[in-house]
Amino acid sequence: MAMIVHPLHTQFGAQITGVDLKQVIDDTLASSLRQCLADHAVLVFPGQSLNPAQFQTFGEVFGELMPQQFKNYTLEDFPFIGFNSTNDLPRKNGKLQVRGENYHTDHSNELCPPRATALVAVQIPSVGGDTQFVDVRQAYDDLPPKLQQQVNGLRSLHVLQSSRSPRSFTKLSDEERAKIPSNLQPLVIAHPISGRSALYLNTGRMEGIQGMPEQEAYDLINSLYEHATQSKYEYRHRWQVGDVAIWDNRSVMHQANADYDPEQYRYLYRLMVSGDALRAAQS
Ligand code: SIN
Repeated sequence: MAMIVHPLHTQFGAQITGVDLKQVIDDTLASSLRQCLADHAVLVFPGQSLNPAQFQTFGEVFGELMPQQFKNYTLEDFPFIGFNSTNDLPRKNGKLQVRGENYHTDHSNELCPPRATALVAVQIPSVGGDTQFVDVRQAYDDLPPKLQQQVNGLRSLHVLQSSRSPRSFTKLSDEERAKIPSNLQPLVIAHPISGRSALYLNTGRMEGIQGMPEQEAYDLINSLYEHATQSKYEYRHRWQVGDVAIWDNRSVMHQANADYDPEQYRYLYRLMVSGDALRAAQS
């Protein structure tokens, strides 16, 4: 079987067919898959229907797996495989809430955030529940040079939940909360492989900007977020059962959608690939 790469967007994203991820992934295929992720930032493999063990093997192609942060969303027999489901969060005023709403990059409060995250669609509502991705490299490239100069070199403290978070997070016990780190992260990162600059934003976790008055900092964060989440930077994935997707958290932000009928169950396996400390882009 020959691997076929179909672009999903003019700037990023690729659908990969002609591979069977349930079979042994040899070194040649593994290295092509890693190169494809580096080149396209989001990869979608339709119709793979991986079980947790096969999904774990797939994830390990991209590096060492990162433990799940929330044990209550972790499969009992597979500590590196978590899940996202319709029932993870309580309803708010009768309305469905899902984990991963609002564009974000995963676990940005960790010193070494995951380099990649992957999902397998196990059960999907008939309408809605898509995952959206935006290219934060292109969003950075399109900023006026003066604004690029202003944001390069800035840092933001990323915490468990920002005091201005637009989304709800899982409620944690004091003991669990105490274990969750906070870290300063660059506002503009350099990709470790391509060297490309990218905006590094997570409005759910960013607690201002170091050395900047509070209101000015949030105004800047919000305007960068609005810029980066324009539809021209977006690929929207409409899930089919069995799809596998993996994305590079240093190149794209992603968001889940609570726009489906809560009577229709949505359930995906999820894993993360460990990353390194982020590098600030050079001005
Ligand atoms: C996530 O943010 O990892 C969840 C994405 C999704 O459920 O669509």
